[in-house]
Amino acid sequence: MRSIASAPGKVILFGEHFVVYGVKAILCSIDKRITATSKFLDEPKIRIKSELGDAEIDLDALSDLNSIPIRFMRPFFHIVKETLKEFNEKIGMEIILSSEIPAGIGLGSSSAACVAVTASVTGLFNKKSKEQILKRAIESERIIFEDVSGADSSISTFGGLMLYGKNGFEKIDSKNNLSFIIANSNQVHNTREVVLNVRKFKNDNEVMFTKMCEQENELVTNALSALKEDDLNKLGSLMAKNQKLLEKINVSTDKLDLLIKEASKTSYGAKITGAGGGGCIISLVDESNASTTLENLKKNSDCFIAKVDFNGLSYS
Ligand code: MEV
Repeated sequence: MRSIASAPGKVILFGEHFVVYGVKAILCSIDKRITATSKFLDEPKIRIKSELGDAEIDLDALSDLNSIPIRFMRPFFHIVKETLKEFNEKIGMEIILSSEIPAGIGLGSSSAACVAVTASVTGLFNKKSKEQILKRAIESERIIFEDVSGADSSISTFGGLMLYGKNGFEKIDSKNNLSFIIANSNQVHNTREVVLNVRKFKNDNEVMFTKMCEQENELVTNALSALKEDDLNKLGSLMAKNQKLLEKINVSTDKLDLLIKEASKTSYGAKITGAGGGGCIISLVDESNASTTLENLKKNSDCFIAKVDFNGLSYS
């Protein structure tokens, strides 16, 4: 028996980093997915295969996840450990991950992987609600990154557009068929490190940071109206303002600045998406400017078009 689940990546339209300090963020899932396929093994081993590497441990080694050398794999083993505990089982299994979302560039691949692995592993025993899967996915991410807000896993689970805050999330009831050109700076970043640098910035500049959180809050409020009105010009110019705040907290780079400058020539607006310090920018487009923006960004980056995914986690 195989259990298959897939979950989408995401872009953050507004509020990355500030969301860690209580500001609401607007997220949107994209039509690029990670798929996890799980099956039981006859031997007492847990094996995980992915394009980024493979890992195999004895069932007994689940008791010490810190000994697993490939750090980004620890959440997956945690998911297996907790699921076996919950169903009172001791059985080997193999999980294979395959991804359309490039890793380490701010498109939520780690969170989507945690969501897909949780649904796939649980599906070997029982079907769970999306809420239950999300809870375990976030808990598993926190074993290697305790500051994670949970925003990325939430949008990956439920799909569409979402307003995410400290007290949970609300779906943004929109059928806006937004399109983005996503351009990869090819500068790999480490989300945890960038988040820690922002924490340091905040601690060194408390008053300024509080003011910036207020400004971000206002941008989010205005963006919600722009989404309601389907006003791409307004949405794009708010994205450009959000980018200025991200530059102030030092998460942009020269390469990202260059991509944003180029994207801004033809799109409605552009900004970093996700942690920054490398990774991707997004630019808001429609059919009138998608191909010119894509052609222009191609000169300096790997880029592609993405649309909103309205399904979120898919599992049986
Ligand atoms: C990363 O995609 C988004 C951050 O705001 C971190 C988080 O929300 O956990 C930078």
